[in-house]
Amino acid sequence: MTIRAAILGFGTVGEGIHDILLEKHQELEKLTGDHIEICGVLVQDLKKKRPIKEDTFLTNQFEDILSVQPDIIFEATVGEEPSFTYLSKAIAQGIHVVTANKVMFAAYGPSLLAQAHSYVGIGYEATTAAGTPVIGLLSKLMQASQITKVEAILNGTSNYILTAMQSEGKPFSTALKEAQEKGYAEADPTNDIEGHDAFYKLMILSQLLYNKQPDWNTVPREGIAGLQKENIEEAKRKGEKIRHVATLTYNRGEIQASVRPVSFPSSHGLYSIEGVDNAITVESDIAGSITLRGPGAGKSSTASAMIEDAVQILQNQAAKRPQLSH
Ligand code: NAP
Ligand code: HSE
Repeated sequence: MTIRAAILGFGTVGEGIHDILLEKHQELEKLTGDHIEICGVLVQDLKKKRPIKEDTFLTNQFEDILSVQPDIIFEATVGEEPSFTYLSKAIAQGIHVVTANKVMFAAYGPSLLAQAHSYVGIGYEATTAAGTPVIGLLSKLMQASQITKVEAILNGTSNYILTAMQSEGKPFSTALKEAQEKGYAEADPTNDIEGHDAFYKLMILSQLLYNKQPDWNTVPREGIAGLQKENIEEAKRKGEKIRHVATLTYNRGEIQASVRPVSFPSSHGLYSIEGVDNAITVESDIAGSITLRGPGAGKSSTASAMIEDAVQILQNQAAKRPQLSH
């Protein structure tokens, strides 16, 4: 059958989804049994020039998107609202949703999941570590394990900046500019460099693992913006590297969380995580310590996670379709 896909937002991530849907349409059809076509794209500024397929229906009104009756919505806009309102409306109409928006999902993910009927798919792999499939690993492949600790690098921009400062001696401002040009940093990079972005991702992991989040106000949060050249040099002198680390520990129902720069010796697993990569180490009661590493930001990596979510949703839907008897 034909699946009508709408894309909300056409920045770094939205463009990536658009490109993969066009470039990989045959592979996607083989995987899902469905022909996926883009039925509409929502943006803010209709006058902006965009590398978009010529006949694409472009609008700045969400109601227009609903009126073209999408089967699935890829959401790649910024901030809690109007994203939450849009996705709530979509779910109420039985539309599958796949989002990359961690600011919205950290706050409203539980509500969206609760609103969705069993036949509505919700994908949020891209909210945390972009295309590095930590959500899939924890939700599907480690269900019987009790995770007692998560130690992770969750912000690609911060790790990119730290690597450029430490290994290449670049100033903070140069490294941040590069991260923006590469599409890693948010349009307003405050969330990246002040630790908010890693915090939202950590809250999404907490919700997934423990079905609850710590009180946000009690979580110590520090970004890399306050680090000085001297801090970097001191770590170097000691043979260490500073990494921006998000930590969750779980003990008898109590969750402790923190987000902050930490100086690691070369023996630590997160010492060698360079550039835009993220890494997540989980300690589990049955499987022991497992680390997942990969690109944590960027157009292709993030769009890849969203397309993988869509493939799973469509495959699940296909499995539920009534079989025709001959
Ligand atoms: P971006 O380049 O700033 O693009 C945002 C897009 O959303 C723009 O096309 C903008 O429209 C549109 N938009 C924003 N607010 C809107 C609204 N209220 N109504 C309609 N359209 C709206 O951002 P991005 O890097 O693609 O990121 C998109 C989302 O994915 C964010 O939530 C981000 O945190 C998340 N994410 C990003 C990455 C990454 O590596 N970049 C990775 C994982 C997750 P205009 O073009 O008209 O301004
Ligand atoms: N700005 C985010 C980062 C994008 O640098 O990690 C990925 O969520």
